[in-house]
Amino acid sequence: MSEATGKKAVLELDGKKIELPIYSGTLGPDVIDVKDVLASGHFTFDPGFMATASCESKITFIDGDKGILLHRGYPIDQLATQASYLETCYLLLSGELPTAEQKTDFENKVRNHTMVHDQVSRFFNGFRRDAHPMAVMCGVVGALSAFYHNGFDVENVDHREITAVRLVAKIPTLAAWTYKYTIGQPFVYPRNDLSYAENFLYMMFATPADRDYKVNPILAKAMDRIFTLHADHEQNASTSTVRLAGSTGANPYACIAAGIAALWGPAHGGANEAVLKMLDEIGSVENVAPFMEKVKTKEVKLMGFGHRVYKNFDPRAKVMKETCDEVLSALGINDPQLELAMELERIALSDPYFIERKLYPNVDFYSGIILKAIGIPTEMFTVIFALARTVGWISHWLEMHSGPYKIGRPRQLYTGSTQRDIKR
Ligand code: SDX
Repeated sequence: MSEATGKKAVLELDGKKIELPIYSGTLGPDVIDVKDVLASGHFTFDPGFMATASCESKITFIDGDKGILLHRGYPIDQLATQASYLETCYLLLSGELPTAEQKTDFENKVRNHTMVHDQVSRFFNGFRRDAHPMAVMCGVVGALSAFYHNGFDVENVDHREITAVRLVAKIPTLAAWTYKYTIGQPFVYPRNDLSYAENFLYMMFATPADRDYKVNPILAKAMDRIFTLHADHEQNASTSTVRLAGSTGANPYACIAAGIAALWGPAHGGANEAVLKMLDEIGSVENVAPFMEKVKTKEVKLMGFGHRVYKNFDPRAKVMKETCDEVLSALGINDPQLELAMELERIALSDPYFIERKLYPNVDFYSGIILKAIGIPTEMFTVIFALARTVGWISHWLEMHSGPYKIGRPRQLYTGSTQRDIKR
């Protein structure tokens, strides 16, 4: 629980003083409770929520200046290298890493919910085959709300908990089927004898004609680590979207679909796809210098760089880069785009334009190069991000519903027409 510090901020308005309480968390900046500003007839104003703490949370902590990311107190590099994605899911959902018994029990629960109602498979047919996979995901995940609505009671903790398991379990199936649909191959059903990441890659790349398809363990390990690196990230745009939708009491599957929609944007989760397109456009190292000039004149952004919170290296980018090196060398792949990305990073990190603006590589800068090595097409990159972030979204949804909350309803600075009458 946040601690009232006893300290107060004093706002002086029109000769009156308003005392605003200050609260402390366990880590990070104190916060000023501004709700009493309303009594003065003013709103606070913070477009983009640059300085706004929207809620109290115990799930993830980010120190943007130091490049620190903790999930329930554990550093992301330790989770990515010493825990599985499902162990990280358990941690995000419950607050603790699982014991061996709890891990087995959770894996079995997830395994028993990887199938979807057979009628869900028919929703895909409404899409063109060349639909963007994120458009399909918005649709089919939202459609799950039609199968789990009647009888769902958001006040019932058991209903909430099974929802979390169902979403973690089913999202890989729907993501793989989204890919299969866009390439015109039949859906491949999940198998109970495979691990989470293996099962996803199996559903992505196996075909009925290749009954003995085996997932490369190097790729399965890399996939699992990529899922962990994308699992949660505090109150980012898509997580805030899920919380806002959830604050109305909306169906949780519909809330997750709202999160998928928000993640799709190139300023957010869509950046991983945009990085590969940017590397394709640059083409070779010789073209880096003129491209950087276009960045500085703001004609283009250096996708995969910059972050609202990190003003230092994104710790996930560091692990992603190490994984990139491991996977490419293990597979014997010499990807010129990796060399191009490293040259872009080298130049950016030594250029005053980027240094002054504290622009560093973020989670999206290297992820696409590994995903490409795993065989995942560029348009599916953000679907992978959505798959992995579903556990973060539902963890925040659970946290919000586990205590008192109010519907989110921001106000505005109105600069439109004053009242006027229709004159006919
Ligand atoms: C994710 O919030 C999260 O936690 C998100 C995420 C998560 O896990 O959920 O971490 C995932 O979304 C990572 C970010 C992926 N997006 C990109 O890589 C797209 C490229 N990055 C930018 O669009 C931008 O950096 C943002 C959107 C990420 C952050 O933007 P801000 O915080 O609003 O910063 P800003 O746009 O005000 O930029 C400050 C300055 C500006 O220059 P000036 O006006 O001061 O001259 O930096 C410049 C910007 O033009 N700038 C960039 C840049 N990012 C910022 N210039 C060139 N290339 C960039 N990528």
